[in-house]
Amino acid sequence: MRRVDPRQGIVGHQSENRAGWRTLGGAAQPQGRDGAAMPARLHHDLDLRRHGLFTPAFGRQTSGLVRTQIQAEPELASRGEEGGTIPYSSEVAESAAQGFELTVVAPAFNEADNLAELARRLAAALQGVRWQLIVVDDDSPDGTADTAKGLAQSDPRITCIRRVKRRGLAGAVIEGALASAAPYVAVIDADLQHDETLLPAMLAELREDRADLVIGSRYVGEGSATEGLSVVRGAGSKLANRLARLALRADVADPVSGFFMVRRPIFDEVAPKLSVQGFKILFDLIASRTNPIRIVELPYSFRARYAGASKMDSMAVTDYLGLVLSKLSGNLIPPRALLFFVVGASGLIVNLVIAKILIGLHVPFAPADAIAAILAMTSNFLINNEVTYRDRRLRGLRLITGYLRFCALCGVGLIANIAVAALVHQALHVNSLAVVAGAVFGAVWNYGSTSVAVW
Ligand code: GDD
Ligand code: MN
Repeated sequence: MRRVDPRQGIVGHQSENRAGWRTLGGAAQPQGRDGAAMPARLHHDLDLRRHGLFTPAFGRQTSGLVRTQIQAEPELASRGEEGGTIPYSSEVAESAAQGFELTVVAPAFNEADNLAELARRLAAALQGVRWQLIVVDDDSPDGTADTAKGLAQSDPRITCIRRVKRRGLAGAVIEGALASAAPYVAVIDADLQHDETLLPAMLAELREDRADLVIGSRYVGEGSATEGLSVVRGAGSKLANRLARLALRADVADPVSGFFMVRRPIFDEVAPKLSVQGFKILFDLIASRTNPIRIVELPYSFRARYAGASKMDSMAVTDYLGLVLSKLSGNLIPPRALLFFVVGASGLIVNLVIAKILIGLHVPFAPADAIAAILAMTSNFLINNEVTYRDRRLRGLRLITGYLRFCALCGVGLIANIAVAALVHQALHVNSLAVVAGAVFGAVWNYGSTSVAVW
């Protein structure tokens, strides 16, 4: 049944679901056993300032949101309904203004054993807050999605997004946050390493308009990471943070924290710019901001895992370093290109080593060098396929056609390299400069052309 509130232009599509909840205008709200809406605060004016949604930096976007709702009024109201327009009901107005205030996004890969405890602790920590939990699973073999959906059956505040054929912490967080309609979005690990009792204090910072982004930080005040991180990872984490601060040119103590809360409009705005790979979502979010944002860090102690094992690996570290270096270059060099160049440099080493071995085996120089160069190109192709382009990895027949194309394009790159070096040498008569210019040109050609024609 569609209801129209002529005073507010709030139009909802009302239906009941099995869990005894009612959805209205897309937002779900709790309903008592007798079907009456549970008591709720009235927000007739949709005052974004009071909700803490409005900030000077994002004023344009948020007020645009309000205007869209108001403009929708005449059109929707005049469309009416077969059964006629339903007269104003304060209950409808209340309900329409009552979405979730806070979406908690928990990325989860093989976290089945942690989810019930996570939901229990969130419910305890967030009493009095209209919160929801979105678990974003990447088709975990341990049945994380089934567990999350089981919990959702008995608690409609819980939702599970199950992604298939995709992996990545950052991508999972982005999808969860983009599914939110709440003014505030929090991100928390599903393994209970983050202290959920900090959430109300984080929310207060946003509600009371003291910040746009609140970070649960291990490196301010009373915060600590000693319980949850080994000595080696602790040192790595500090180094990662130092690099990040350098690249961000912002004074953030824990920019790689996986625990934070942000105004949703900010997230919505930067989402298209965020990288979906790896662990660096917060760093990326801060680095991708276009408007100044106010950041507050609140201390907490990073706990040991409740169950299961960490998914942080060397690939996540590589990704992170790539992103930081890319930001340090002022976004000039994409992270993927950096990785491609590092792989290229590794090819040079392969080339030298194999040529030396073959010459040591008395193979004449020319064939030894040719074989070494071909093997270096092959190893470059295979490493790029496994690492640089692992999200677009070629398999089977496409691996072979891709390899042939890669060799052809790199052959062109080599000719261009030599030609550019000759030109520069002719013009400037500086050997080293000519060689470097040729190499840079060749490398950029190889990256650009293979990224389009191979992967
Ligand atoms: N959906 C999905 N897909 N979730 C993932 C994936 C993935 O590919 N990889 C990891 N996760 C989930 C985990 O299940 C967990 O809930 C959360 O993301 C964090 O992953 P962990 O594997 O537990 O990370 P960690 O504890 O080693 O790293 C923590 O500290 C880092 C900084 O030191 C996290 O908080 C990171 O976010 C943080 O950057
Ligand atoms: Mn963890």
